[in-house]
Amino acid sequence: MKTGGSGDVIPSEDAAHLLQVEEVSVSFGGIRAVSQVSFDLDQGCCGLIGPNGAGKTTLLDTLAGIHTPREGRIRLDGHDLTGQSSTWRAQHGIRRTFQRHQAFGWLTVEENLLVALEWRGRTRRILADLVATPSTRRRRRAHAGRIEHVLELCGLLQVRHQRAATLPIGQVRLMEFARAIVDEPRLLLLDEPTSGLGPEDTERLGSVVREITATGTCAAVLVEHDLDFVMDVCDRMIVLVLGEVLAAGDPAEVCRDPEVISAYIGVA
Ligand SMILES: Nc1ncnc2c1ncn2[C@@H]1O[C@H](COP(=O)(O)OP(=O)(O)OP(=O)(O)O)[C@@H](O)[C@H]1O
Ligand SMILES: [Mg+2]
Repeated sequence: MKTGGSGDVIPSEDAAHLLQVEEVSVSFGGIRAVSQVSFDLDQGCCGLIGPNGAGKTTLLDTLAGIHTPREGRIRLDGHDLTGQSSTWRAQHGIRRTFQRHQAFGWLTVEENLLVALEWRGRTRRILADLVATPSTRRRRRAHAGRIEHVLELCGLLQVRHQRAATLPIGQVRLMEFARAIVDEPRLLLLDEPTSGLGPEDTERLGSVVREITATGTCAAVLVEHDLDFVMDVCDRMIVLVLGEVLAAGDPAEVCRDPEVISAYIGVA
């Protein structure tokens, strides 16, 4: 895969889709957690729903490079990334949030975002950072502006100087989301982002997800149990049951599918 100076992927000429998942299966010993799952994603937000244990987190982890599929392929811009590490995938624009939040509790909210912007940190920058060359100062100004914008977008300006560990769970989750989008990902993987959020923060999160996925520069896969949120934010939906795709397509149509109602919505 070719990469630009900032590590961004340069699409190949025959790139068909941003993300292509081709018959992916993932097993843990004898447990087949994900079975022959296929789907494409170019833009917008794709909801991934299903009962507990359906394989939703396992599939996100596999897209993020935490698990290796036993079978199948995952492509980004047509390039096979099945064997690439999670670090490599992050460097190429794939970001995720976790079902159980993973904040740097001893850092402030603003520092958590700064870490996400600076993490690519190449060692050759150490000297430049120490002497604050013009390019370092330009980069710092750009980062400060981006952090300000994302803090405002996510309603975190008031708590920017607070340590993450002192925040209520809802704000920690919003911060984790802010950290995932601050570096302008191309593919965002969200695992139950509304868990712990009150109605106001859920509404805010929904409007930010809609806004960033409407630009066409960032697509998202959203795992959620809150069906109203999924219907509000997603333009496509996939239903997983026991690791297999039960239904996929327009969210309203999928929710009317009797098989989906009986396997999930009836008990959601
Ligand atoms: N690291 C692991 N080792 C062994 N089994 C696992 C592991 N991770 C997940 N599983 C199993 O894989 C299956 C799918 O789990 P997964 O966490 O992906 O489901 P989920 O759809 O995210 O569920 P939930 O809605 O409860 O978060 C379950 O049977 C689970 O017990
Ligand atoms: Mg899960």
